[in-house]
Amino acid sequence: MSNLIAPSILAADFANLQRDIEMVNNSEADWFHIDIMDGVFVPNISFGMPVLKAIAKHAKKTIDVHLMIVNPDQYIQTFADLGANILTVHYEVCPHLHRTIQAIKDAGMKAGVALNPHTPISVLEDVIIDLDLVCIMSVNPGFGGQSFIENTYKKVSQLRQLIDFTASDCQIEIDGGVTNINANALIEAGANVLVAGSFVFGAENPTETISDLKNLIA
Ligand code: DX5
Ligand code: ZN
Repeated sequence: MSNLIAPSILAADFANLQRDIEMVNNSEADWFHIDIMDGVFVPNISFGMPVLKAIAKHAKKTIDVHLMIVNPDQYIQTFADLGANILTVHYEVCPHLHRTIQAIKDAGMKAGVALNPHTPISVLEDVIIDLDLVCIMSVNPGFGGQSFIENTYKKVSQLRQLIDFTASDCQIEIDGGVTNINANALIEAGANVLVAGSFVFGAENPTETISDLKNLIA
């Protein structure tokens, strides 16, 4: 399984969105990470369907949508229609997680589940075999630019063990506070997809920063 970088568009310049999308298209980045927030599950509102539609029109790489919303089930088909390739829902808002995962797959997308920093890996034991991706939140969801929570390493190792034990081909994504300081250690702990928002878009040269991250985790 190769190690991937997914720049988070939340940290892009929304007044220059097409420029930033083209930057990602022309960089060594692998995926577009798209954060959808509803102001209910998380204390922030990011952007919604019209913006995702505009992004998808220009994006030439996998679109990885991270839903930080309550009742994600009612929007699954909408996100499929908008061009999401991977749809990730939060464990904390899904009382019927197995059903939600199947619905995402039935809509033709890869299915991901995200876990808040306080949610243990063990809650995924009975669905891991059905998952394409687990997103371990390494900050409390809602905002970019927060600092990385060190307990994440332990969770990555536990998840890696669970995945290997069940022979699932699920990917492990880390979201929040990823920089050149922790990237390599996260891969060594067993992750293979790193989301990076402010570290990429806040850099003087985002294209080079993506390339440096890719080299670090190669
Ligand atoms: C946080 C979002 C992240 C965020 C990461 O709720 O899910 O994807 O954009 O941003 P950084 O890399 O700045 O922590
Ligand atoms: Zn995210």
